[in-house]
Amino acid sequence: MSTVASASPADEWQPIAFDTGTAYGRKPPSHKPELTEVGAGTPMGELLRRYWHPIGLAADATDTPRQVRVLGEDLILFRDRKGRAGLVHWRCAHRGASLYYGRVEEEGIRCCYHGWMFDVQGHCVDQPCEPDGGARSRGRVRQPWYPVQEQYGLIWAYLGPAEKKPVLPRYDCLETLDEGETLEADGNSIGGGGPQIIPCNWLQHYENVADPFHVPVLHGSFSGTQFVALMGQMPDVTFESTDTGVKIISIRKLEDGSVFRRVAGPVLPTLRVVPNPRVAAYGRVESIGWVLPIDDHSFRIYTVGRVKTPGDLARVRSRLNGKLWEELTEAEHRAFPGDYEAQVSQGAITAHSEEHLATSDRGIVMLRRLLQRQLDAVREGRDPAGVSFDPAAPPVHFDAGNFIVSE
Ligand code: FES
Ligand SMILES: [Fe+2]
Repeated sequence: MSTVASASPADEWQPIAFDTGTAYGRKPPSHKPELTEVGAGTPMGELLRRYWHPIGLAADATDTPRQVRVLGEDLILFRDRKGRAGLVHWRCAHRGASLYYGRVEEEGIRCCYHGWMFDVQGHCVDQPCEPDGGARSRGRVRQPWYPVQEQYGLIWAYLGPAEKKPVLPRYDCLETLDEGETLEADGNSIGGGGPQIIPCNWLQHYENVADPFHVPVLHGSFSGTQFVALMGQMPDVTFESTDTGVKIISIRKLEDGSVFRRVAGPVLPTLRVVPNPRVAAYGRVESIGWVLPIDDHSFRIYTVGRVKTPGDLARVRSRLNGKLWEELTEAEHRAFPGDYEAQVSQGAITAHSEEHLATSDRGIVMLRRLLQRQLDAVREGRDPAGVSFDPAAPPVHFDAGNFIVSE
């Protein structure tokens, strides 16, 4: 506290206390645009465009055109009657009617306005109002399109420069199935703690994957026991930087003297490599989630996992007070806040200028540095970590899992 003498006579001297640290006069908040904003031409937008991203379930590509928003771009997903999935810019290359109203046919999608038809690679294959169906003119038109592939029950898209298109990665934990297991895909943002589309910047969620200390507080105390009592114990944590992610090892001592070793973490570009927080069984990680930035202010998560019974993945969704997120009243959201409440309340894009990072934020710092190194690589004309151009490369392996080790 600072004090000065008042103007009173000396014998009535009283200190006037100046309050310190008040909210007055603080600087306007700001975020780090290079880490958060994903539009085409932005640093992070260009980095993320160097990787494949899941943009829908395989079942989302049908003969009914579907609007999807990915990295700030509005696109139309469809499946032609030959069974090929296609992803095109929404605006028809002729005069801009939306292909959302288009009709899917054998060879592609036909615009409702003048009937121009585009195949899954954007070639214009018919112009019914032009002489000879546009035989001489249609070759000059290309509907903007992106390559897609199907794998693990998801549609994957590559929105980056054609000459830099990497191989669509495969993952060991989804390639090698145990007895009785099948793969299941989910598009309902498992791990987001809320609805399918979450209204805040993707990085707020991605950083949460590098934040093991919120587990005993948010999920073990504030939310009640959201997972299992074991996860409420404050862990001993080791953070390790890898070439493509941050590996977080959380150690908890069990009553019988054995040690619960949980390995999790974020992996480039947006992967959640997080073993089941309910610790239903010990062993290697059973699912991977991909955080898809819809735009700067919203994201969703696609997940693929090994399951014993269909529907197991959806059953991983958290219940608070016995209810799913969308069933909670406002009072219950406040009584049992979870990941959604914590991360969305940080703001549409959190104000990095107002943060005070502490020792427990080491994983966040490591993740931001990892992302910054990739931004630097792309800016300098190098390839970011985690892209491969070798179709024969082995599946990507993760050490993640819930393990019991004896002392
Ligand atoms: S605007 Fe699409 S065919 Fe004319
Ligand atoms: Fe969480």
